[in-house]
Amino acid sequence: MTTLRLPGLVDVHVHTRDPGQTHKETWASATAAALAGGVTTVLAMPNTTPAVGDVDSLDLAKAAARRGARCDYALYAGATALNASSAVRLAPRVAGLKLYLDQTFGDLRLPSLDTWWEHLAAWPATPPVVVHAEGASLAAVLLMAAWLERPIHLCHVSRADEIRLIARAKDRGLAVTCEVTPHHLLLDQSDAGHLSGRGTVRPPLGTPADRKALWAHLDVIDCFATDHAPHTAAEKMSDRPPPGFPGLETMLPLLLDQVTRGTLALDDLIARLDANPRRIFGLPAATTVVEVDPEERWVVRAAELHTACDWTPFEGREVQGRVTAVRRGSETLFEEGRVLAAAGSGADLKEGDPSR
Ligand code: DOR
Ligand code: ZN
Ligand code: ZN
Repeated sequence: MTTLRLPGLVDVHVHTRDPGQTHKETWASATAAALAGGVTTVLAMPNTTPAVGDVDSLDLAKAAARRGARCDYALYAGATALNASSAVRLAPRVAGLKLYLDQTFGDLRLPSLDTWWEHLAAWPATPPVVVHAEGASLAAVLLMAAWLERPIHLCHVSRADEIRLIARAKDRGLAVTCEVTPHHLLLDQSDAGHLSGRGTVRPPLGTPADRKALWAHLDVIDCFATDHAPHTAAEKMSDRPPPGFPGLETMLPLLLDQVTRGTLALDDLIARLDANPRRIFGLPAATTVVEVDPEERWVVRAAELHTACDWTPFEGREVQGRVTAVRRGSETLFEEGRVLAAAGSGADLKEGDPSR
């Protein structure tokens, strides 16, 4: 068996559901899934219950992470209609500030253009402002960021017109970075049938042309990120399915499979899951190593995954490339399908001494 050694990867877009909706996922289960997928740093979104928007809710979310996390992490603060000036105090303790400009899961959507502006103007240049923005919202927030000359990171870009606009913004020298998910790269509306009711996700799956445009603009994509958004299989099959797909354990195998197929260079994969996210979010260099068998072929089965949500949009997909172990120095965090890192062993990279 050949073994490929990669730096521990960073996923800049993860929903842990903890605190508040731990029947979907906990810090312990999300980070078990992360390690099984070769991800050793997760940046966690603020749409928990309660949402993270002030010191008390941040402390509560940090306590849950401290108890449960099996890998390193940082938390985002969430922008609300009322916290533009007070959220600034959280900046040194978080991965960034998240703005929800379009409807999705939770109640953090910001209805007013004034509020978008207030947050973009008040938040410091680092850590980044990250935005959920689709279509015209994306164009509007890019305009505001350009006027304010402030860096901005665009989450889960999914459409051809969006990635082309970002390419134009970058050509003009705007300080904009972006991420794309494996599901928007590998699934499209033609998959809706086999996903049946479970295909609801925000942004929605695009057309085959959208998918093609994302691949054609790989140079514009700074990060791959899962938008790991676990909801239980039962919730996904209900009359009003919440949007979101789990993705932490499948991202690296799916992308390694693209390397095998010749559609993605290994260096391009690593840049988007290691150097680029660390640069954009000011994170330390990897202290972990991921061992991969690049030749193992296997079939994705929800029953074998570590996420608590119990389903995957990639059920039954055959992929080549598997994580065999994750190590930090002489310590083994994951090996042969078993997560060995204890709950609570992960470090908050934005609190205290990140070098531990
Ligand atoms: O599909 C999604 N689910 N998109 C989001 O932006 C939020 C996420 C969630 O938290 O479930
Ligand atoms: Zn989003
Ligand atoms: Zn998300």
